[in-house]
Amino acid sequence: MADKKFYLTTPIFYPNAKLHLGHAYTTTVSDILVRYHRLMGEKTYFLTGSDENTQKMVDAARKDGKEPLEFLDGIVARFSSLFSELSISYDQFIRTTDQKAHWPGAQALWQKLVEAGDIYKKEYEGLYCVGHEAFITEKDLVDGKCPDHGTAPEFIKEENYFFRLSKYSDAIRQKIESDELLIVPATRKKEILSFIAQGLEDVSFSRPRKADWPQGLGIPVPGDDSQVMYVWCDALSNYITALGYGQGGELYEEFWPGMHVIGKDILRFHAAIWPGMLLSAGLPLPKTLLVHGFITSGGKKMSKTLGNVIDPEELLAEYGTDAVRCFLARHISPFEDGDITREAFKDAYNADLANGLGNLSARIMQLAATHLEQGTRPEAAEFPAEYIQAMEKFEINKAAEFIWSRIQALDQKITEQAPFKLVKTDLEAGKKIIFDLTQELYVIGCMLNPIMPETSKKIKDAVAANQKPENLFARHD
Ligand code: MSP
Repeated sequence: MADKKFYLTTPIFYPNAKLHLGHAYTTTVSDILVRYHRLMGEKTYFLTGSDENTQKMVDAARKDGKEPLEFLDGIVARFSSLFSELSISYDQFIRTTDQKAHWPGAQALWQKLVEAGDIYKKEYEGLYCVGHEAFITEKDLVDGKCPDHGTAPEFIKEENYFFRLSKYSDAIRQKIESDELLIVPATRKKEILSFIAQGLEDVSFSRPRKADWPQGLGIPVPGDDSQVMYVWCDALSNYITALGYGQGGELYEEFWPGMHVIGKDILRFHAAIWPGMLLSAGLPLPKTLLVHGFITSGGKKMSKTLGNVIDPEELLAEYGTDAVRCFLARHISPFEDGDITREAFKDAYNADLANGLGNLSARIMQLAATHLEQGTRPEAAEFPAEYIQAMEKFEINKAAEFIWSRIQALDQKITEQAPFKLVKTDLEAGKKIIFDLTQELYVIGCMLNPIMPETSKKIKDAVAANQKPENLFARHD
């Protein structure tokens, strides 16, 4: 097992605004999966980062009265502080303005596409949506605006380098059909296959360097400084540049190919353009794409105007890291859209944590501290098959559901077998039940490790020390 490798990436985030709960979701799901594989004894590598060479970031910086590169540092510092509050255990945070870590690899990959004869120059005109960082077509527009971003696209006429993605339509389709590139859930696999069946078109892969972009923003196209790489070409390559691709990186040899966690809105980039680039360069395709849904609030897309935006920092300040992770893991399906409101969060917190896990741990350990001798060591925990199966299939919510079914079963056991009464009439029998309860609580503590790392440790420590855990979760009213 020790030489089994697990490489997982999050998407790299656009640093034009603060991250919201949707972004926190992608990252938390990723972290739970990595922690699970680490728990299973695998060697893991976990990458996250920011997608910085973008027009939307430049616009946001200028609106804020700042120079883009200075603005970036401020936003990226907030990303890492949010990730640390969420206990995200990443190994590396890649920034696409990093000229040492990212640019050489991105340029080496571009060069491979050139060598394969897949890059050509073309005069092009089209409608560019800055929100998507992609060209869109007339028929995508509603009242002249992009329906996802509510903004009118820019009309662009320019000479670009194009990537011959069309050449790889069949090869990509085969890799996806055969699950060599596994797309989870199956509905997303179907969706992308029907998109590919129409035939993939070549993609504009560079833009003329903008006069108002500072030096240091935008990766120069090798051999043509007047052009910078298209931001998606630049961004996707982060998954291997971070491992030192193109620079003799050992991490690349060790960990690529890996798995990408993404939201449903960026499926085409990851299941068409990215495999196309890798095929062109003769590199292995990712093993898995886990495609999650969107988080809504009160059934609606979170938006400032509706006032339903949920700020992860506020939730974290009010309820703590593990409570937020628990909600995202247990109450949102990793495969479909999910909803959250403050009310639903509070109710779930009280039921799952204050009355559920917190109360159960306190009850069991109170009994143990009173009746068991010190030094009653927990035995090594075996992970139940249901838990393993759910986690291996990325069904984090099912794994959590299983843990909570165990919590309920233990609650019931205490009520039915009433060890607190039994100790008065048959001390040894009462102690045996209490001991068994501590062992089962220990297994719950172990299973919680990927979802709620701190709580997991507290529970395991409490069982090992035969003590009541510190106040775990106070009720919120
Ligand atoms: N920069 C690109 C990704 C490049 S990866 C090579 C990007 N960035 S993003 O900041 O807009 O989005 C990052 C991730 O957050 C995406 O996976 C996206 O699906 C996810 N989410 C954004 N809003 C979301 C919700 N409301 N709910 C769940 N996830 C959503 O796209």
